Amino acid sequence: MEQYIIEGGTKLSGEIQVKGAKNSALKILAATVLTKGENIISNIPQINDIGQLIEIIKDLGVEIKKDKKDSLKICANNINKTQINEELGRKLRASIILAGPILARFGEVEIPHPGGCLIGKRPIDIFIDGFKALGASFEEKENSYKFKAKKLKGTNYFFYKISVTGTETMMMAATLAEGTTVLKNAAQEPEILALAEYLNSCGAKIKGAGTSTIIIEGVEELTANKTKIIPDRIETGTFVVMGLLTKSEIKITNCNPSHLENFLIMIKRAGGKLEIGKDYIKTLPTEKFKPVDVITHEYPGFPTDLQAPFTLLMTQASGASLIHEPIFEGRLFFTDKLNQIGADIIMCDPHRVIVHGPTLLYGKTVDSPDLRAGATLILAGLIAQGKTIIGNVYQIERGYENIVGRLNNLGAQIEAN
Ligand code: EPU
Repeated sequence: MEQYIIEGGTKLSGEIQVKGAKNSALKILAATVLTKGENIISNIPQINDIGQLIEIIKDLGVEIKKDKKDSLKICANNINKTQINEELGRKLRASIILAGPILARFGEVEIPHPGGCLIGKRPIDIFIDGFKALGASFEEKENSYKFKAKKLKGTNYFFYKISVTGTETMMMAATLAEGTTVLKNAAQEPEILALAEYLNSCGAKIKGAGTSTIIIEGVEELTANKTKIIPDRIETGTFVVMGLLTKSEIKITNCNPSHLENFLIMIKRAGGKLEIGKDYIKTLPTEKFKPVDVITHEYPGFPTDLQAPFTLLMTQASGASLIHEPIFEGRLFFTDKLNQIGADIIMCDPHRVIVHGPTLLYGKTVDSPDLRAGATLILAGLIAQGKTIIGNVYQIERGYENIVGRLNNLGAQIEAN
């Protein structure tokens, strides 16, 4: 699809099911490369990023067959390549997640310089340092990086900066290393715990995942297994903001609210009315919102991936709120798009904005700069007066399955063409 045309001002109602987590599925699919035998991975979201990763893995020689709906059979017995296809790899920043598994199992890997969206173009120094610490040699080529190690060696590694994929990459690589690896200052996201649980079910010996210290005792080999992808906490949070902004009662099901504690506290502080169950969240019509200052933080802090929808919510709060985004460069630049449609947001510096509300939003044509900002523009379109046209929706379809159909089922009026 090229663009979405949204008619603003409609109330939503009904139930929406959360899909499997993009950022868990990507890592678990990559981890299957470490295993022998047939994996069955279910609850895989049907989104562009996953499609891209599947292409890359198939190109390595991994056999992938459709099982039931949302479920794949994956067998990595016959991998015949240790080089990630350059063109495919460049399209997906997360392709770097394959480097650890390939290096650990086959003794070498060559990866293209990673691409990505605006916030996707980020450094990979942690991966390079980490592989070197595990005993790999490193060579930078014109368009790629190459790592080699007959057998990786367990190490004590301290992350100078907390990194989600850095932690996952080191954890995966260490499963087949000789001896014990201790990872300190590790990221603690639920997706990391889910990855460790899958790897342990395949025979890995990982302790402490989900905390800041992870201990991995290397094993000789891993055997394929079954797993179900956890619910997407970012999709869940996005739908929560959507229900509140449109003053609608919607039931968000198949989710895990315990993965969103900080976010849900901030929503409550903003006056958002919710009913929270074990695996669902219901948004209740809320007339007025209060301004709340937010600073994004690694898990269990406020997720950077929910900063954009929360910033939009604050455009409807009565007063000024400060949004501080220290994790990524450039992740607040999308606020310029919100200003184009009527918001009053002042950028203090690239990491901080002040949002003044409430403001009326007016439909216009805007381009989606990245995945989360793009989803936020959809929400903005739902409450804007008139028609909002969102371009570059490829960015949105990277991470949200059939978003137009699912929102229209709730009563939204979105046309995709
Ligand atoms: N960083 C470095 N060097 C590195 C790696 C990262 O300086 O070698 C920096 C980054 O530039 C950033 C910070 O470390 O400033 C944290 O980045 P992190 O490595 O944690 O991010 P990531 O693992 O690349 C994942 C998610 C992101 C999510 C972040 C933070 C995946 C595939 N991506 O990225 O998700 O925002 O963690 O929670 O898991 C999204 O889904 O829209 C998305 C961007």
